[in-house]
Amino acid sequence: KETVVSGIRPTGKLHLGNYFGAVTNFVKMQHDYNCYFFIADLHSLTTHPTPADLHGYVRHVLVEYLACGINPEESTIYIQSDVPEVAELYLYLNMNAYMGELERSTSFKDKVRSQPDNVNAGLLTYPTLMAADILIHKATKVPVGKDQEQHLEMTRTFGNRFNRLYNSETFPEAFAFSYSENLVKVPGLDGKGKMGKSEGDANCIYLSDSPEIIRKKVSKAVTDGGPTEENQQKPEAIENLFNLMKIVSPADTVNHFDEQYNKCAIRYGDFKKQLAEDMIIFNTPIREKIEEIAKDTSYLRQVARHGALKARESAQKTIKEVRSLIGFTSF
Ligand code: TYM
Repeated sequence: KETVVSGIRPTGKLHLGNYFGAVTNFVKMQHDYNCYFFIADLHSLTTHPTPADLHGYVRHVLVEYLACGINPEESTIYIQSDVPEVAELYLYLNMNAYMGELERSTSFKDKVRSQPDNVNAGLLTYPTLMAADILIHKATKVPVGKDQEQHLEMTRTFGNRFNRLYNSETFPEAFAFSYSENLVKVPGLDGKGKMGKSEGDANCIYLSDSPEIIRKKVSKAVTDGGPTEENQQKPEAIENLFNLMKIVSPADTVNHFDEQYNKCAIRYGDFKKQLAEDMIIFNTPIREKIEEIAKDTSYLRQVARHGALKARESAQKTIKEVRSLIGFTSF
């Protein structure tokens, strides 16, 4: 069986972007592959969370993984910081990762723009930590959304470079994976771009949002004055809402509003109401499970411990091999 690795940063609750970009693939893949799904708490340190926030969000993501249907008997679910071998491999990979290529990464350039007061070394070396996550289990498939594609390319570069340097075949190449034809990019509600935690709460629909909150957020989603000509191309904000509807609503609902749009007869109020109701239908069973699982701390503890043991077993095998290739052999 091929090995699969993916993770999510515990920087907030999971939203529809995380679900349709990543988690829905996790749930399907676990039947067919050897899967490792983790909570990327080391990665989230780049933004200096308080210990209480960090702990709370790690717990949240763990609950949400389980509520979405990741089965801890089938997949290995773990917290990144429980596997120190990842940090060790990160150190080795950093020795062969160059300033120029790290600075060219789009996610780094975005961060330099969005948090100019906190351009730390962890941000610069974010792609080597991510490569360590993937290479530590020798994964070949990585279910992620479109925004992570470049990181996967860098992971292949670092893995191949290590192999060449030590004349070995330690690391296989890993590729971004989605069951859908293309990698997914779920738009947000602000009319501009992807759904994301850093784009603000109003822009995201969280899996744990109540029906009232969903109705309120969707009713405030950015639209425009409406189409002025028949069959005109949709501006980005409207296209985004249609794309969200394609994700949660049946095809005939989407077609109905599409026809209305093309005939200049669409009423955005009705369109948004339908979108909100279909989001509620989708998220209600998950939200109810989140609430139920969140109560069971001893179960969560057991899942995290069991996952850490399994993940470390695999990670230690790789680290042993890597140490010996590097020349850290005993006298
Ligand atoms: P993160 O925490 O930003 O997002 C987690 C996953 O959700 C996907 N995603 C989206 N997909 C589609 N549309 C969206 N609007 C959207 N927003 C988020 C992301 O593509 C991702 O799959 N660097 C990673 C975490 C990570 C990782 C790894 C992933 C660390 N190590 C190793 C895979 C393998 C990140 O920041 O994801």
